[in-house]
Amino acid sequence: MNAGIIGMGRYLPERIVTNHDLEKMVDTSDEWIRTRTGIEERRIASDDIDTSDMAYFSALEALKDAGITAEELDLIIVATVTPDHPFPSVACLLQERLGATKAAAFDCSAACAGFMYGVVMAKQFIDTNTYKHVLVIGVEKLSRITDWSDRNTAVLFGDAAGAAVIGPVSEGRGILSFELGADGTGAKHLYQDEYIIMNGREVFKFAVRQMGESCINVLEKAGLKKEDVDFLVPHQANIRIMEAARERLELPEEKMSKVVHKYGNTSASSIPVAIVEELQNGRIKDDDLIVMVGFGGGLTWGAIALRWGR
Ligand code: UT7
Repeated sequence: MNAGIIGMGRYLPERIVTNHDLEKMVDTSDEWIRTRTGIEERRIASDDIDTSDMAYFSALEALKDAGITAEELDLIIVATVTPDHPFPSVACLLQERLGATKAAAFDCSAACAGFMYGVVMAKQFIDTNTYKHVLVIGVEKLSRITDWSDRNTAVLFGDAAGAAVIGPVSEGRGILSFELGADGTGAKHLYQDEYIIMNGREVFKFAVRQMGESCINVLEKAGLKKEDVDFLVPHQANIRIMEAARERLELPEEKMSKVVHKYGNTSASSIPVAIVEELQNGRIKDDDLIVMVGFGGGLTWGAIALRWGR
């Protein structure tokens, strides 16, 4: 059986922080943030909502969408760099809260590429018929590790969770190819000390190069061409980086998911959060060829070509 996405869900905190709100906190402007990043506002979780809470809310939606119960889960993978605690994992907290008594559970650390890593891991278990249902969640409470006096980073990030149930899908649908990668020589460009430290220009250059490259690679691996792509879902980090990937695939504007203006960069959750939005808008349909691509601290990257549908 081929592995695919059989259900999705997301959680977005209620509180909206606009660029104008940030103007009152750091030396920045709405105009600078919009033109350099495309971000207009982001969601910030309240103090009483932790990473595992956001993961839980998104998981409930995904299970409902997939039409399965938590007891039917074989494995829970949570991609996050902002777990509630170093251990136990968010995945274990979730396993208990969902009542997923059969499921193994662990967290995966690949920063903004984490959801790609999680889905590819899930696929291995489905392809080999080892497991039937794997819950993969990308979730971040980046507001907890953001220095709100550092304009280089404070304007970029937001909090959110996105969940997908990975399971067997019908012939021709599901994950067609993938690429995962890492370059530890770039670890110094994006990391957490107490707060997020970032060399924006270096990450920007890497992202522009790698996003396009990985998209082309997964298409080649699947024996497909640029023209075959129906929809591109890039990591929602910065509209200029996303546009570079779209141009590399020679796709028209309407074939790329764009939610960065509303949610900012939500790291591991950005791709599933965007997919849920596009499903709700009816812009992703059964049998569409979707390319997802992410990059992040590590440095890490990952891309997946997938034929949508169960
Ligand atoms: O998920 C992965 C996470 N990271 C990323 O995706 C980040 C990738 N990088 C980027 O998105 C961009 O590099 C940034 C948006 C972070 C910065 O845009 P840029 O076009 O690369 O700007 P820059 O770093 O070259 O800075 C231009 C100027 C600088 O001033 P000087 O040195 O030219 O006088 C910065 O100090 O803009 C200044 N600046 C700001 N000004 C107003 C930096 N941040 C701000 C700010 N508001 N928030």
